[in-house]
Amino acid sequence: MEKIEQLQSYLQKKQFSQLFLLVDDNTSVNCMPILLEKIDEITDRQAVLLEIPHGEEKKTVSTAENIIRSLAQSEADRDSCLLSLGGGVVTDLGGFVSSVFKRGIENINIPTTLVGMADAAIGGKTAVNIDGIKNLIGTFNFGVLKNDSVLSYDVFKNKVFLDTDFLSTLSVNQIKDGVAEILKTFLVADEGLSRKFLDSPIEKNAVVPYIEPCATIKERIVSQDPYDRGIRKSLNFGHTLGHAVEMFYNLSHGHSVAVGIHYALDLSVKHCNFPYEKAKAILQFIEINYELPPYDKDISQLTDLMRQDKKNTDEKINFILLEDIAKPCLVSVYQV
Ligand SMILES: NC(=O)c1ccc[n+]([C@@H]2O[C@H](COP(=O)([O-])OP(=O)(O)OC[C@H]3O[C@@H](n4cnc5c(N)ncnc54)[C@H](O)[C@@H]3O)[C@@H](O)[C@H]2O)c1
Repeated sequence: MEKIEQLQSYLQKKQFSQLFLLVDDNTSVNCMPILLEKIDEITDRQAVLLEIPHGEEKKTVSTAENIIRSLAQSEADRDSCLLSLGGGVVTDLGGFVSSVFKRGIENINIPTTLVGMADAAIGGKTAVNIDGIKNLIGTFNFGVLKNDSVLSYDVFKNKVFLDTDFLSTLSVNQIKDGVAEILKTFLVADEGLSRKFLDSPIEKNAVVPYIEPCATIKERIVSQDPYDRGIRKSLNFGHTLGHAVEMFYNLSHGHSVAVGIHYALDLSVKHCNFPYEKAKAILQFIEINYELPPYDKDISQLTDLMRQDKKNTDEKINFILLEDIAKPCLVSVYQV
């Protein structure tokens, strides 16, 4: 992940044939002015603005198709670049479209939510939902190889430029969404950071210092397993129930991940001997900061949704659980 100040020189160096700026109706108002003030290249090159409505329900094939149609109408070619300015919905969609439009154009993510900065914009996974099923189709988009003949791990880093100024217009709940994803990453990878983070207040200024350590952990795990066959799956901690909760209760992604972590910790104590005292502190952190839906009561419907999860191989439901902080494991459960 690079700083936003480096974007100007990157765009000048790459000499793209055309620039496209994908925004949603919130980031066009709240974030585009901040970006344009800092990056002259986008105005000088007369980047074409592509605006979509905000929201998870717009992360669809139909929205992707509209973006593709707009790119075609503006005569985008394979040397064009799509800059995705937004939260995880915009970067998932922009990344997806860039990887399929004319078999791949360059994509640059400029995350504007805490979820995006700490997680969604990083790692090259792109996705759209179908019939309300989360991320049913998607690609791995690590960017376009141009004139580079040697493959290296660096190839598995997608282009992300960070500007924490965008956080200023987020609500407390949107910050809490990002906190859940950061907590997830620290719990699967770093005990020291987990402890410090659990003791920090959930406030914009207090969370900013954790963005880069979190992004660095994700980049390291992605470089070890770019195509999600092994260690990268650990970043799905909290997501098996989380995705089901997101669909069933129509909660935000981050809030749902917090609920999923709560459940996965309970399972970790039961199935993996996760130390109970440590679990108690994390469960309390979640109970204090997030409203928990009655997922125990609805578990049979949630189980049906969990069976659709991509990590499942047959009738079993696969959960990423923890033997301890920073000790993830994959556990198959027939009956939850
Ligand atoms: N690809 C990945 O690796 C990955 C990882 C985690 C999450 N995700 C995906 O990311 C999505 C969730 O991301 P999200 O929480 O950023 O959702 P989001 O993109 O829907 O953003 C949340 C809301 O904040 C608004 N917004 C964005 N930036 C703003 C700003 N600076 N000020 C004011 N409003 C702003 C958006 O318009 C939207 O209404 C889900 O679809 C999830 O599946 C993907």
